[in-house]
Amino acid sequence: MRTAIVNQVSLAYIDSGQGLPLLLVHGFPLDHTMWGGQIEALSRQFRVIAPDLRGFGRSDVTEGKVTMRQMADDLAALLDALQITSRVVLCGLSMGGYIAFEFVRAHAGRLRGLILCDTRASADTPQAAAARLQMADRVLREGPAPLVESMIPRLFSPATVERHPHVVETIRWVMMRNDRRGIAAAARGMAERADSTELLPQITCPTLLVVGQHDALSPPEQMNQMARAIRNSQYVEIPDAGHLAPLERPAEVNAAISHFLQHIAAAAAS
Ligand code: MLT
Repeated sequence: MRTAIVNQVSLAYIDSGQGLPLLLVHGFPLDHTMWGGQIEALSRQFRVIAPDLRGFGRSDVTEGKVTMRQMADDLAALLDALQITSRVVLCGLSMGGYIAFEFVRAHAGRLRGLILCDTRASADTPQAAAARLQMADRVLREGPAPLVESMIPRLFSPATVERHPHVVETIRWVMMRNDRRGIAAAARGMAERADSTELLPQITCPTLLVVGQHDALSPPEQMNQMARAIRNSQYVEIPDAGHLAPLERPAEVNAAISHFLQHIAAAAAS
């Protein structure tokens, strides 16, 4: 992995392939390895950039709270560090989607397209935000285990749990090795994120929404509703996948992303 200093922190990232830049933004509390099924396959056709967000993987940790806006600004600064001045396609999963909404608010001019995977436009309810803050304190005291054990049962489809238990174990391990301070800081940032429902009709770039058929955290009905609020959007449901569709069904997700990107690249060339 390479590293770049952006906004005073060191961010680790993969930068692979050539062509239309695709920025892959991971979920919580994960790192760039959740895109393992996409990076190699998609970098045959596109330039794939997959960072570890501030506080995760091999990137520096900031203690306290890291807002979704800060993470979006880090991504824009990473593009600057890589001297990418052309518009990019940003693909965010779950927390990566919350960050994508902040990127739209602050850096819309840098977007050629948007891919929203297994994410929500709504903010946390007051109860959900309070539970998150409590969990952040608990993770600081006890480490990631309580959070990881509460999340794992809700992340995967029954088919993944039954047929691909190694995927579940890999994700458990990725979550467990993250720094407790980075996890807590991002949880606090998510707890205060803005509601993005009103932003959806203002998104003008081509947008693909991808959701696992069994996603318990951002259910298909919710994502379908989001797709209907975004005027230039496509909606794809991935059979037998849960909240981590790109990991659970990489071939199907790659086909959807690749089709979308080819369309965008062709429109730019014409
Ligand atoms: C994620 O996958 O990033 C999380 O489910 C986001 C969240 O906790 O809201």
